[in-house]
Amino acid sequence: MSLILGIETSCDETAAAVVKDGREILSNIISTQIEIHKKFGGVVPEIASRKHLEIVNAVVAEALEQANVTFDDIDAIGVTYGPGLVGALLVGVSAAKALAFALDKPLVPVHHIRGHICANFIEHKKLEPPFICLVASGGHSHIVHVRDYTEFEVLGRTRDDAAGEAFDKVARILGLSYPGGPEIDKCAASGNENFAKFKKVSFGEGNYDFSFSGIKTGVMNYVNNAQQKGEKFKTEDIAASFQKSVVEVLVDRLLEASDKCGIKKIALAGGVAANSRLRKELESRSKGYDIYFPSLPFCTDNAAMIASSAYYEFLKGNIADMTLNAVPYLDIENN
Ligand code: KG4
Ligand code: ZN
Repeated sequence: MSLILGIETSCDETAAAVVKDGREILSNIISTQIEIHKKFGGVVPEIASRKHLEIVNAVVAEALEQANVTFDDIDAIGVTYGPGLVGALLVGVSAAKALAFALDKPLVPVHHIRGHICANFIEHKKLEPPFICLVASGGHSHIVHVRDYTEFEVLGRTRDDAAGEAFDKVARILGLSYPGGPEIDKCAASGNENFAKFKKVSFGEGNYDFSFSGIKTGVMNYVNNAQQKGEKFKTEDIAASFQKSVVEVLVDRLLEASDKCGIKKIALAGGVAANSRLRKELESRSKGYDIYFPSLPFCTDNAAMIASSAYYEFLKGNIADMTLNAVPYLDIENN
């Protein structure tokens, strides 16, 4: 049995969790900064790192307390070291290094996106690789062939905005608050998704990359034109039409990539995996496939997913020394 303490500070959540054998959560503490960043319309990196610094030790202490364990019981400390905001990552990495050094415990470096994928292992006890995973968050949009717990191949990626970033930017254009994804999801529920058509881009057969900047610009142009002409529109209709376009692009590429690999096991991960329209679209178009989603709290950033990924990296012997540093841009294939 292995108990892993996971620490996550890559963006605007300070999180710590204790997870047993990669799949069983003993505690999962998340302190979110969303309310602080809301008034700026997005994450302010300097504020994020300062807030992480203020609270990281308390969050770790609470994770141990809730799990009813002490530092002595922990077998290894897993920490997100990239990708993410460098100042934010540094807080988690420094805290994990200090603990690993003082307690003489192994330090396991975790790739944030690998962590998002592992969120699926926590809730789906029987899920095992290989499978195809769409990871769509605020900073990343990838279609990944999960060959094994620590072996990943990127089949497609965004050429411009990440899917979550497009949701956040369009929400701002529509006057909705941050983070935009959940706001658009809610607003779109009462809109007509066939109201406007936004141009979707494909890079040709056999290419699983996506692009969202054209759809985002389409929304911006629509809103600007309407405002200039003094025409009224329902925000709900634009939100729904935008959401439909993004979701269709994601599901089209995901199913094409899964067909190419001949793998009918698909998982979603990352904040955008919480999107209700995305879940519905995938379910309705993938009869005969095995589909897995994390529940909503495990789609967005948390440390249980980091501890889960750390467990598999730990088993593989991926241990860092005290030179571990934060890496803001980090390839998922080479952790
Ligand atoms: O994975 P995450 O918590 O953080 C990153 O690693 O980026 O993802 C946050 C992103 C934000 O862009 C947010 O707007 C988006 O996920 N998001 C959603 C929904 N919930 C969160 N996007 C679409 N629909 C949602 N329901
Ligand atoms: Zn994330």
